[in-house]
Amino acid sequence: MSRSRSYDRSLDLYRREIELVPGGSQTNSKRATAFALGAFPIYAQDAAGARIQDVDGNWYIDYVLGLGPITLGYCYPDVDRAIHEQVDRGIIYGLLSPLEVEVAAAVCEMVPCAEMVRFLKGGAEVTQAAARLARAYTGREVILNCGYRGWVDTWAAQHTERLTGIPQCLSGVIDGWPRHDLDGLRAKLEEYEGRVALVSLDPAGGGARVPDGYHQAVRELCNEHGALLMYDEIVTGFRMAPGGGQEYFGVTPDLACFAKGSANGMPLGIVCGRADVMRLAADDVTISVTYGGEALSLAAGRAAMQVYRSEPVFDQIWATGGRLMAGFEELGEKHGVPLRCHGYEPMSSQTIDYEDAQLSRDVWTLLLQEMAERGVLLRRGGLLFITYSHRDEEVEETLAALDESLAVIAEAVDEGTVSERLRVTEVKESFRSFT
Ligand SMILES: Cc1ncc(COP(=O)(O)O)c(C=O)c1O
Repeated sequence: MSRSRSYDRSLDLYRREIELVPGGSQTNSKRATAFALGAFPIYAQDAAGARIQDVDGNWYIDYVLGLGPITLGYCYPDVDRAIHEQVDRGIIYGLLSPLEVEVAAAVCEMVPCAEMVRFLKGGAEVTQAAARLARAYTGREVILNCGYRGWVDTWAAQHTERLTGIPQCLSGVIDGWPRHDLDGLRAKLEEYEGRVALVSLDPAGGGARVPDGYHQAVRELCNEHGALLMYDEIVTGFRMAPGGGQEYFGVTPDLACFAKGSANGMPLGIVCGRADVMRLAADDVTISVTYGGEALSLAAGRAAMQVYRSEPVFDQIWATGGRLMAGFEELGEKHGVPLRCHGYEPMSSQTIDYEDAQLSRDVWTLLLQEMAERGVLLRRGGLLFITYSHRDEEVEETLAALDESLAVIAEAVDEGTVSERLRVTEVKESFRSFT
């Protein structure tokens, strides 16, 4: 297939951005180098439903979706209407917005652990708030954490061997255990006996499905050792179920953090949980930001939560994700490409594993390039985010594009021409945060 899409405007902008913005992006996982630079769009100018338009005028079905905040689809009418109505009334006041009360009540209604709620903005802020609350409540300092929680020192201190600029002393109060390894967690709780304030995890993270009984066992271990349990629901929240992973797995943590799906793209971070723990934020536990009560995000959150509660959003997302996972696996098999799907339907991850690791990386890049060429945006290694606006039409178009792209890949692998078919100007592994 000859090249038909141009990314020239994207590339012109990017050349300017890398001179002005370190890393060329505000979000590490969105760096152009994490995709297929030169053969993939970089800048967006429009979006609607499940689709996005780049600055060169090309439209795509989008599965990257801002890295997860869009649950209903771009420009979802109920949410956009709420934002427009609020804009006309002011964005933020010195007085409180009544929306704070309404959205807090909606969260408490939907999320099993939520008895009280505080609003912040991003994921790092809410997980930081949960860490502080847990340390204050238990009078202990150590956090056992599994997975990425955000860029702030509290969490980055788990990786001072790789990350710089973080006080070394903080690394003594955070540790981890291998995902889904109960014995590993038990051993750490024993190693730090009487010192663990918080066990923190994302309930469906890591790509693989969670072993039966794992979350129940973690809950019991926390109870035995007097540690609080926090679920980071930043990906699972308002995606797996109305009440997030805790509703889906039927286990109630002490604290939970939400951000991505709370307001269909507007920045609304939520830390919530047991009232006796949350209440500490009224006194000596300082959690306070200027923008916490910003009304556009709260209005968007209220509208989104109304849709989550009144329409079959989550059933639809699971069904669409299921069709895509089955289709990806089937087409991988048809073309002899080792493409596999893992995890859960609303946000499955994908792997391509040849014995030769460099070939696997190049095939990923070729897949991103060929899918973009055919109007579908994927992310290296998934996650494949699904919205309520991805319908049959999008699934069919995606699978048709995948069928053609995998045919190209199979031929290239056979011929040994994968790397020469790449039109990229620079390729790097996807930024993997510090999980
Ligand atoms: C599970 C999880 N927790 C926390 C974060 C941090 O959120 P933010 O980037 O809004 O600070 C992320 C971001 O990707 C995430 O995926």
